[in-house]
Amino acid sequence: MPIAVERTQLPTGLALNRLICGLWQVADIEKDGRVLDPETAADALGAYAATGFETFDMADHYGSAELIMGRLLARHTGPGPRPLAFTKWCPAPGPMTAAVVRAGVQARLDRLGVSRVDLLQFHWWSFEHPAWLDALHEMEKLRREGLIGAIGVTNFDAAHLALALADGIPLATNQVSFSLLDRRAAGPLSKLCARTGVRLLAYGTLCGGFLSERWLGRPEPAAVPDWSRSKYKRFIDAAGGWAAFQGILGAAAEIARKHGVSVANVATRWVLDHPAVAAAIIGARITEREHRADNGRVFAFSLDASDRALLGEAFAATTPIPGDCGDEYRRPPFLTASGDLSHHLATIPHVYQAEPVPGRPDRSRVSSGSMWEPLAGYSRAIRVGNRICVSGTTATHGADRCVAPGDAGAQTTYILDKIAAAIAALGGRMEDVVRTRIYLRDAASWEPVSRAHGRVFGAVLPANTLIQAGNLIGGYDVEIEAEAQL
Ligand SMILES: NC(=O)c1ccc[n+]([C@@H]2O[C@H](COP(=O)([O-])OP(=O)(O)OC[C@H]3O[C@@H](n4cnc5c(N)ncnc54)[C@H](OP(=O)(O)O)[C@@H]3O)[C@@H](O)[C@H]2O)c1
Repeated sequence: MPIAVERTQLPTGLALNRLICGLWQVADIEKDGRVLDPETAADALGAYAATGFETFDMADHYGSAELIMGRLLARHTGPGPRPLAFTKWCPAPGPMTAAVVRAGVQARLDRLGVSRVDLLQFHWWSFEHPAWLDALHEMEKLRREGLIGAIGVTNFDAAHLALALADGIPLATNQVSFSLLDRRAAGPLSKLCARTGVRLLAYGTLCGGFLSERWLGRPEPAAVPDWSRSKYKRFIDAAGGWAAFQGILGAAAEIARKHGVSVANVATRWVLDHPAVAAAIIGARITEREHRADNGRVFAFSLDASDRALLGEAFAATTPIPGDCGDEYRRPPFLTASGDLSHHLATIPHVYQAEPVPGRPDRSRVSSGSMWEPLAGYSRAIRVGNRICVSGTTATHGADRCVAPGDAGAQTTYILDKIAAAIAALGGRMEDVVRTRIYLRDAASWEPVSRAHGRVFGAVLPANTLIQAGNLIGGYDVEIEAEAQL
């Protein structure tokens, strides 16, 4: 029987159920090489769709999930809305030319058997590699061509989401981890969503199933075989360990008993109550188990002030997951899992290549390929012994495009990624930076620039100078130089 569901709209106007069926679990089921029968698996998706869960979340690397969804879509020949296919493209880092992006998008269309993907979400492994902006601009061209209904991203922190928007990409969604245990998305990302209208699609809401009665009062598992739960076990460890987790689980169980619902319902309701959240994605091990009826009960009750206070007490006994959303894929502590392509991290090419300085064995340098560097006689960055000096850096993308024109804060985010890439190519890290100098065109932009600088250097605390420099050459809003001591 169809469940009475809450519905919402993405900024593009696309309407959907606030619970989405997630299919990463297909990759886990298939990890030993046994591929699900597409027709039987499509029957399982059809049963979800028939009860009102008509939206499915997939990715290029979720085993045969896109093919299974393709079978379901092929069956929909009659009138009425067809199930919605949200998928992801997670390319290996490298140049994102028009041809590369078109091939990535076309592969999604081919596997789904459609001429337009409803929502295509883009993941990128390292913002030091600037090609992510090229990929999104190419995706936008394909959206205008009609191949993509709406563009989303996944695992973007607030700063890079803001940068993409300021660079003119009309993003509808950002898919991030958001749960009673991982509350990062309630921070700067939610504020940005309120300001821009971008909506969050929350995953990890049940921590792979850990946030359920099944684990209440149970001893800590020694080994966790499935990919999803093994990932969230790492989140549990980072949030203060099993005892802290049991504190949250206990509070959720007490609230669940009071309302006559399940722990999963309480965990999901708490996430859905955040205005930035469009929907929660709940993973399903299709053909093995399903919790459809129970999950549908999330729409039948509300959390009150005393429930929130009880959860707040449990939160206070946990350690906040460090950083912002998506950091788990890009920096320590890497809270990722097998099966989510995180092995790419080991193969990300440096954007810049270090070159030896002839006759000076203690020196190496990087150039960005700009025609001006040899002409004017400077390097993007130079290493002398254990010291690295990075030239004044602007938000120049490719040969001469200014990224995020008019937005000094977003330009700072881009510049600091560029500085990080130059320092990395010379064997250093941002933690080694001991001095930065910031030149502003307009003194009024000091705050967003300072905040963007603080996001990167808040724990490093290099010496800093911030000055207004009048008309920066090239019409840029901000220019930054840096020095690192290894
Ligand atoms: N963008 C990204 O980087 C990213 C990363 C991870 C996931 N995702 C997306 O998010 C989806 C969610 O996956 P997830 O790994 O985060 O897992 P999750 O949704 O937190 O947990 C799913 C598991 O919870 C259990 N469960 C579901 N409903 C339940 C209920 N009512 N009561 C008790 N247990 C219940 C089931 O476990 P059993 O099957 O064992 O019963 C299910 O497999 C994925 O499929 C994927 O679409 C995206």
